Amino acid sequence: MPLDIIVGAQWGDEGKGRMVDLLAEQAAAVARWGGGDNAGHTVTVGDNIFKLHLIPSGIIHPLTVGVMGNGMVINPETLLAEMAHLEGLGVRVPPERLRISPSAHLITPAHRALDAAQEQQRGGGKIGTTLRGIGPAYVDKAARRGLRVGDMLDEEDLADKVKAHVENTNRQLSALYNAEPLDAHEVAAQFAEYARRLRPYIADTSVYLHQLLADGKRVLGEGAQGTLLDLDHGTYPYVTSSHPIAPGALLGLGLGFAAVGEVIGVTKAFQTRVGEGGFPTEQEGETAERLRGTGENPWDEFGTTTGRPRRVGWLDLVLLRYAVRVNGLTKLALTKLDILSGLKPMKICVAYEGGGRTHRELPLGLRGLEDFMPVYQELRGWDEDLRGVREWADLPQAARDYIHLIEEQAGVAVGWASVGPERGQLVARG
Ligand code: GDP
Ligand code: IMO
Ligand code: MG
Repeated sequence: MPLDIIVGAQWGDEGKGRMVDLLAEQAAAVARWGGGDNAGHTVTVGDNIFKLHLIPSGIIHPLTVGVMGNGMVINPETLLAEMAHLEGLGVRVPPERLRISPSAHLITPAHRALDAAQEQQRGGGKIGTTLRGIGPAYVDKAARRGLRVGDMLDEEDLADKVKAHVENTNRQLSALYNAEPLDAHEVAAQFAEYARRLRPYIADTSVYLHQLLADGKRVLGEGAQGTLLDLDHGTYPYVTSSHPIAPGALLGLGLGFAAVGEVIGVTKAFQTRVGEGGFPTEQEGETAERLRGTGENPWDEFGTTTGRPRRVGWLDLVLLRYAVRVNGLTKLALTKLDILSGLKPMKICVAYEGGGRTHRELPLGLRGLEDFMPVYQELRGWDEDLRGVREWADLPQAARDYIHLIEEQAGVAVGWASVGPERGQLVARG
């Protein structure tokens, strides 16, 4: 059995969590390969709304093991809070159910302080980060001075490393950003406690996943963020500091190419973005309000991690084709189709205009996204409420036409359409 990879095809928040929850039932393990608690993955099961930032969404299925791979950056404080959140909803997370790579990096309060100070200094040029310390933690990793999960195995060594890290960060905070320093001893004491609690979870996750695959078990890779936030292939500099695209899964889990089965791209039926950066199909006014919702419903477009209202717009097929290419997508999952009911006419972006020409592909990758005007195709839309639909044949013809256009333009089949946040609110292609 292969490693199937689930990846965000847009700017994150596509509904990866709910798709992972669907497919995790048949997986022995679900593995996160990158990012940290900048992610917010929602899974709705009856009255319970699980909000997962670090632990793979597969954990909700009692027989599925969660794996946190070497490519992640992990804030132990968030992780322990998340274990408590899960326990409150009846999901216990003992060490048999969660394995953490010793090579994953740690996020500390010093990283968070740096993230905030840097955003403040950027002023109008800010990235709009989640302020979770993600960028600074990956900077320390690349600079080869990061703290790793494996450092928690040796108590004395950990205390020395944490203190040195906080002192180094303090010098940056005061010299470059005029920000308050942190108490190195206090942070070291916190980390000693985190280490005590998390040590039993540390395991060689690469060996574990290899063995599962060799035994014919299915493993699911759970992407965080989305293609357009990828450090190399996203809308730089308005990106995150890791590799949300599918090849990142191999790097971030310690697996080889031969392991890969399906690569499933999750896309909303429209487009959203949190944070700054170009967004050619962005809408304001009434259309935006319809797409975003007002915040009364849990699924309305307000960030899971930060509560910020998400920017919204029409689905952009130029960007979706790009996501198909850089991820090698083999299938699409289309989420939030229910939200488009009653939006008439509907629009979908099929190309860009810029420099006196029409572009189906971006001429220079994602550079200069701000300089392109979207070319829209108008569709008649539909009025029917889709939330109760469970069979493909019961989708209104206009909704099937919309899906057909997406498939034709993206060159990849849509395997699932979701019509509500609940586990069962999903239409699978026969
Ligand atoms: P992720 O980060 O990709 O896992 O996505 P998020 O959980 O951050 O955001 C997706 C939001 O949409 C969550 O509130 C989900 O419960 C909700 N959602 C997912 N699929 C659907 C759907 O088909 N319809 C509706 N109305 N909401 C959905
Ligand atoms: P999930 O996994 C949406 C965005 C931030 C910001 C940029 C950089 O829930 O889809 P960072 O804190 O990573 O340095 O911020 O990336 N971002 C996300 N947007 N969903 C996410 O995760 C995101 N993770 C980061 O808003 O624009
Ligand atoms: Mg999210």
